[in-house]
Amino acid sequence: MKPKILIARAIFPEVVERLSCHFAVETNQDDLPWSSAELAQRLHDKQGLFSSANERITAELIAACPQLKMIANMAVGFNNIDLDAATRAGVMVSNTPDVLNETTADFAWALLMAAARQVGASERWLRAGQWKRWRYDAFLGADLHGATLGILGMGRIGQAIARRSRGFDMQVLYHNRTQLPATLEAAANHAQFVDKDDLLRRADHLLLVLPYSAATHHAIGAAELALMKPTATLVNIARGGIVDDAALIAALRERRIAAAGLDVFENEPAFHPDFLALDNVVLTPHIGSASGATRRAMATCAADNLIAAFSGKTPPNLLNPQALRQG
Ligand code: GLV
Ligand code: GLV
Repeated sequence: MKPKILIARAIFPEVVERLSCHFAVETNQDDLPWSSAELAQRLHDKQGLFSSANERITAELIAACPQLKMIANMAVGFNNIDLDAATRAGVMVSNTPDVLNETTADFAWALLMAAARQVGASERWLRAGQWKRWRYDAFLGADLHGATLGILGMGRIGQAIARRSRGFDMQVLYHNRTQLPATLEAAANHAQFVDKDDLLRRADHLLLVLPYSAATHHAIGAAELALMKPTATLVNIARGGIVDDAALIAALRERRIAAAGLDVFENEPAFHPDFLALDNVVLTPHIGSASGATRRAMATCAADNLIAAFSGKTPPNLLNPQALRQG
């Protein structure tokens, strides 16, 4: 008998078709929102789960699904999953690293440029028929070329962002848990390692590329925002919760920093309503990896991991090899 899997959200039909060759598949192709109780009920008799970053996979859910052996999360981030609980229960978990690095780095630049040059606010103004009110000082932004780019979190996405800064003649500063080897720093437009406060003080544009964890919760709060330049731009393409959104709203409202570009929010898909009243923030709905080619590559990668797990192979992107010893 084929193992049973649940695909929690709508996904490319060809991926569903491929998985159907290996598994008895229950899908959610109508993309109906499932409550956590409904997810638990549907997952109860399944051995595998194909999840997105939108499902919260808690210890309770894992405990309620004794058949579960494998969760393939279609995202590089996996803070939606209680990984320790999965490991203790002998449930393998995989993510989709690397395939999205370049696409996500592209999007970091899209948000940075949009925020620094007021693309969102000026477009709203144009659409509202305001162009006849042109002034010399409308929508004055901050330059990218020649500026100092700060990157907090210098993993592979951070390095891909840094490489792109060469074309803008930028100086790159970064902070990370550990300093990169000199060869990687050189490849990242000669990025220079500095301490976090130094980064906050010196960056003209600061990009956040940290994974979310208890250790990075509110890594940018009121105290950190207070160190930044009043002309600075802040961009978060990583995870909500890395930034204290209420503190950021206050800083943007009082122009203690100039602008922000945000693809991720605390409690998304809900978000702090006060963001909507600010003209100096560009808001996007967690689309950093959303190119056609990359979303396909992510779905394929998650499917590869599921198929490997049930063919007696180690999933290529297994996050918790310790789970194998529990099973
Ligand atoms: C998207 O945010 C991801 O983690 O892949
Ligand atoms: C985090 O997602 C990183 O690769 O830096």
